Amino acid sequence: MNEFDNVVERRGTLSTKWSKYQDPDVLPFWVADMDFQAPEFIRDALRKRLDHGIFGYSETPQALIDAVILWLADEFDWSVSPEWLVWLPGVVPGLNLACRAVGAPGDCVMINVPVYYPFLAVPGNGGRTAIEVPLTLENGRWVMDFPAMTAALRNRTRLFMLCNPQNPTGRIYERGELVALAKFCERHDLMICSDEIHCDLRLDARPHIPIASLSADIAARTITLMAPTKTYNTPGLACGFAVIPDAALRRRFCDARAGLLPGIGLLAYTAALAAYEDPSDWLDRLRAYLRGNRDVLEACVAELPGVSMTHVEGTYLGWIDIRELKLDNAMRHFEAHGLGLSDGTQFRGPGFVRFNFGCPRATLDEGLRRFRRAVLAAGSAR
Ligand SMILES: Cc1ncc(COP(=O)(O)O)c(C=O)c1O
Repeated sequence: MNEFDNVVERRGTLSTKWSKYQDPDVLPFWVADMDFQAPEFIRDALRKRLDHGIFGYSETPQALIDAVILWLADEFDWSVSPEWLVWLPGVVPGLNLACRAVGAPGDCVMINVPVYYPFLAVPGNGGRTAIEVPLTLENGRWVMDFPAMTAALRNRTRLFMLCNPQNPTGRIYERGELVALAKFCERHDLMICSDEIHCDLRLDARPHIPIASLSADIAARTITLMAPTKTYNTPGLACGFAVIPDAALRRRFCDARAGLLPGIGLLAYTAALAAYEDPSDWLDRLRAYLRGNRDVLEACVAELPGVSMTHVEGTYLGWIDIRELKLDNAMRHFEAHGLGLSDGTQFRGPGFVRFNFGCPRATLDEGLRRFRRAVLAAGSAR
């Protein structure tokens, strides 16, 4: 049996994903965590730590720094110096710190939408104004709309917040697109905050390219955020990092953090270290399994009337267009059919739902049976 086929009961385990619906008949496919156990080598490392029995304050392990530097070189051909790394108890705090490290209150921050919804709150949290520019569909792919981005620029626009691989559309931007964005940011003197937390979840042969790896100039204006937590399904063991090559920018980022964030927990460091020292082919097997799930989801959506989706290149999230179903309350409709999805409105994508396919195939198959019934019922009610 494939290890990812193993269905582990998560109800009653303090899981955000599984606690949301009081109705036990609703299967959750919303928040971005997967229903897979973390690999055995991470659980072993955690067990060892637990057996030590003392859970004091912790230091960043040198082995973790070494492992991350190797990972970035091996996976992305990206050469990073140890002093560029700033450790964080999560990527969302990093988004907020990046915004405060650039410019001043009253400035503007550009964001493409739809996007992972915490992005939308970041400018306001830092006293900045968000400029939201929609991605557009071109030949069945979500792409950046540079004419619209240029037209939307305002005087005090200082920061561009990038999400790549893109949540919720599942796009992995190609080199040409990133080069165009880099030029746009250089031309208009924008700094870049690039959330690349899904960088390891590439489902096709297409590589992930950190935008900061394009050139030294781009690196100097970029804060890149990454973490092992999506990849190895350990988001409850919050640990991530920023890569900030420019010393002055790094100082501002660290100053913004001062006194506000907790340190990274011992167990979180332990899991992160075990993840980046992964001695196995677990990640390849995960990607193969997710690819299979993605294909099943895309095939299901393709054969249903009134719904469509674009190809998911990375992440385990499908972005499904349900506008033609003309549902008054889409979430309630899907819940009534036993499905808990993410509402696209949250991401600035009204008329879309996000479907998390990071689960055992049997769970996905049941979810898709329900999805089919819900879509057909909506169609026949029209
Ligand atoms: C693009 C993106 N960034 C950040 C996060 C969350 O990161 P963290 O839990 O480390 O704050 C998510 C989780 O879904 C995400 O999709």
